[in-house]
Amino acid sequence: MSEPRLGTPRLGFGAGLRTPHLPYIREHRPAVGFFEIISENFLGCHGGRRSALEEIADHYPVVLHGVSLSIGSTDPLDSGYLRRLKRLADDVDAPWVSDHVCWTGVLGINTHDLLPLPFTEETLAHVTDRARIVQDVLERPLILENPSSYVEFRASTLTEWEFLARLAEEADCGILLDVNNVHVSAYNHDFDPEAYLRALPHERVVQMHLAGHTDHGTHIIDTHDAPVAEPVWELYRTAVELTGGGAATLLERDDRLPPFPELMAELDRARAVADSVTAVTAGGGHG
Ligand SMILES: [Fe+2]
Repeated sequence: MSEPRLGTPRLGFGAGLRTPHLPYIREHRPAVGFFEIISENFLGCHGGRRSALEEIADHYPVVLHGVSLSIGSTDPLDSGYLRRLKRLADDVDAPWVSDHVCWTGVLGINTHDLLPLPFTEETLAHVTDRARIVQDVLERPLILENPSSYVEFRASTLTEWEFLARLAEEADCGILLDVNNVHVSAYNHDFDPEAYLRALPHERVVQMHLAGHTDHGTHIIDTHDAPVAEPVWELYRTAVELTGGGAATLLERDDRLPPFPELMAELDRARAVADSVTAVTAGGGHG
C-alpha cells in the first residue's frame, strides 16, 4: 500500500453527508471512515444544521467539497468566500478542501454550473496561480476534481489529463479523481479512460469519487441519482491499482437517496475492490 499523499491522513471509505441520513447516522454511528460535506451548505450556517455537523465532526473526520470556488474564472478570487471556507475547515478540522477544475461564472454571476475550461497553457498558468493562493489561504491541501463535461473547446491544446497532471504538479496541490466523471467524459468525448488514469501523477491522488450516472445512449449525464455503474467499478479497480490504494474513496449520491445502509453496501463493494487489489499486489502479481 502506498503512503498517504501530501501529508494527508488515510481516511479510507466515506460518504457524502446528506440531511435525510442524519437521523440514521446519529442513531447508528455507521462504520464509515469519513464524511464529505458540500461546503456551501454550511458556510455561515448556525442552528440545528450547524450543531448536527459539529456532532458528526466529533465522531468522524470531515472533508470539505465546494462548488463555487470558480478556480478557472477571470473574476478575482472571492476573498470573503475563502475566509469563510477557511473558518469552516478550521471548525471541523478538515484535513483537506476540494473543488472542481472549472469556472462557475464571470462578472460576478454564479451560474451554479461547473463549466468546462479551455485546456491551454494560458489557462493552466492562470489556474495554477490561483490554486497556490487558495492553498495558502486555507493552510491545508487543496484537492482539485475533474468534472464531467459535455462540450469541449476547439482552442484546447492540452488534453484534460495533461492539464490536470500539470496543474497538480505546478500548483503543488492534490487531485480528487472522480472515476465516474472520467467514464462520463470519456464516453461523451470518445477518449480512452484508462489512458487518462495512467497519465496522472498517482501520488497526488488524495481522494476518489464514485457515483452513478444516466446513460442516454448518445451521451452520459453525471446525475448522482443511481448506484455506481459496472464500467465505473472496472475503472475504479484500475484507479486503485495505479494509485496503490492509499487514496480516500467517497461515494457521492445526491438524488433518489436510498436508505443509508444501501450506501454502506456500495462502500463495502469499494472496500472489497481495494482489498482484492492490495491482496494481488501483496502476492506479487496482477493476476
Ligand atoms: Fe465528484
